[in-house]
Amino acid sequence: MSTANRKNERITIPDLVARKGATPIVCLTAYTKPIAELVDQHVDLVLVGDSLGMVLYGMNSTIGVTLEMMIAHGQAVARGSKRAAFLVDMPFGSYEESPRQAFRNCSRVMKETGCQGIKLEGGTEMAETIDFLTSRGIPVLAHVGLRPQSINTVGGFRTQGREKADWSAIIADAVAVAEAGAFATVLEAVAEPLAREITGRVPNLTIGIGASAQCDGQILVTEDLFGLGSWSPKFVKRYAETGKVIDEAVRLYAGEVRERRFPGPEQTYGMKPEPPENRS
Ligand code: KIV
Repeated sequence: MSTANRKNERITIPDLVARKGATPIVCLTAYTKPIAELVDQHVDLVLVGDSLGMVLYGMNSTIGVTLEMMIAHGQAVARGSKRAAFLVDMPFGSYEESPRQAFRNCSRVMKETGCQGIKLEGGTEMAETIDFLTSRGIPVLAHVGLRPQSINTVGGFRTQGREKADWSAIIADAVAVAEAGAFATVLEAVAEPLAREITGRVPNLTIGIGASAQCDGQILVTEDLFGLGSWSPKFVKRYAETGKVIDEAVRLYAGEVRERRFPGPEQTYGMKPEPPENRS
């Protein structure tokens, strides 16, 4: 049955997989119920990304994000999203130790949030774990190229594959996770020709963020697309300047409170009319 025939059902992972090389898959992050409600009708996949540690909590990396934070935000997003495929990111330290640790924590995330699969970072070194998870019913979205959870070994948020000498390791990662069964792979901050090359080579879907329009889909952090925050990485297109809209709304509110113009008659409650016997 096509996705169009199943209007009230969620898009499934096989629905997405069937779109390799066809219409690009639209993905966005969501961390809260109101944002999930706003994006759900427009996207094919909503990801509760561990980027929430930086975007919502002001951490300077994603390392401090916990499983409990991901589950709480996953549950919030589940309440707001009904149609898009729904995945939750595994935080640093919750899956790298062994395939069994990964299965224990990923299955907990799926049970407690109702998500359809998980995302984890890593290439060749995670292939065994991805095989373990996917062969036991856990769909995996892999993540290669720039891996924010590895910034302490890499030394910072750096674009990947801008020199040909670096290509073979990144291609090996993308091929390894695809062969291990990842249904899709995020390619983050990867030089455009390399992202195109990987997309043509691997059998699974590629989802670009700072990669290439030729990937099988694109993802952005929704707050970046909204234009919240004064700075954006090169790969972000700010489709709105919501930060400016909020700033203006708060400025107007503050002025009206100080001038006693808010609340006005429309926002205040009068008394109920008194019963006739009490009237003089
Ligand atoms: O954590 C996140 O939000 C992500 C996506 C941007 C891919 O990893």
